[in-house]
Amino acid sequence: MALVSDFDSRTLRHALGRFATGVTIITTVDNHGQPVGLTANSFNSLSLDPPLVLWSLRVSSPSLPVFESSARFAVNVLGEAQLELSRRFASAVDDKFSDGPWGAGDGGVPVLAGCAAVFECERVSQQRAGDHVLFVGRVLALSEAAVPPLLFQAGHYRMLGEVL
Ligand SMILES: Cc1cc2nc3c(=O)[nH]c(=O)nc-3n(C[C@H](O)[C@H](O)[C@H](O)COP(=O)(O)O)c2cc1C
Repeated sequence: MALVSDFDSRTLRHALGRFATGVTIITTVDNHGQPVGLTANSFNSLSLDPPLVLWSLRVSSPSLPVFESSARFAVNVLGEAQLELSRRFASAVDDKFSDGPWGAGDGGVPVLAGCAAVFECERVSQQRAGDHVLFVGRVLALSEAAVPPLLFQAGHYRMLGEVL
């Protein structure tokens, strides 16, 4: 395996895709009370004490102004039964929230039903990083359920397999 240093963004994207992740839908609410959300796999844990998590949003996203002005967001960690929801929130459909049960968490931020975990967060920082904005949130409340997670790797959705 030869290391290359003259890579283009397609090659970088391809190599980064080897890293297997879970899949989340990050949600918030705009100042008219309208829910906003998108599929994201840039979510990660950052700190246990204080409890911090991070994720990033592309600068060109129409959702960016809402996430920049909203004090709260929720990270909805998807289960494998929520594949269609993931596809929906990764598309540009008008009303992403019309299908699938959800409720309003703290501050009215949408919390999706049936997730493997939910982290309700207060935004503590945002920072431009290249073509994305990096958001850090402090976890205010969480829930978890023993449902198998939805995974993403090499451009495909996957399901958990056992190590033999
Ligand atoms: C598995 C998966 C993970 C994604 N992760 C991110 C992410 O971390 N950040 C991001 O900005 N877009 C990510 N996207 C793309 C957004 O979901 C997609 O661009 C969506 O339309 C964004 O919503 P918007 O139209 O409100 O910007 C991901 C898409 C998929 C399918």
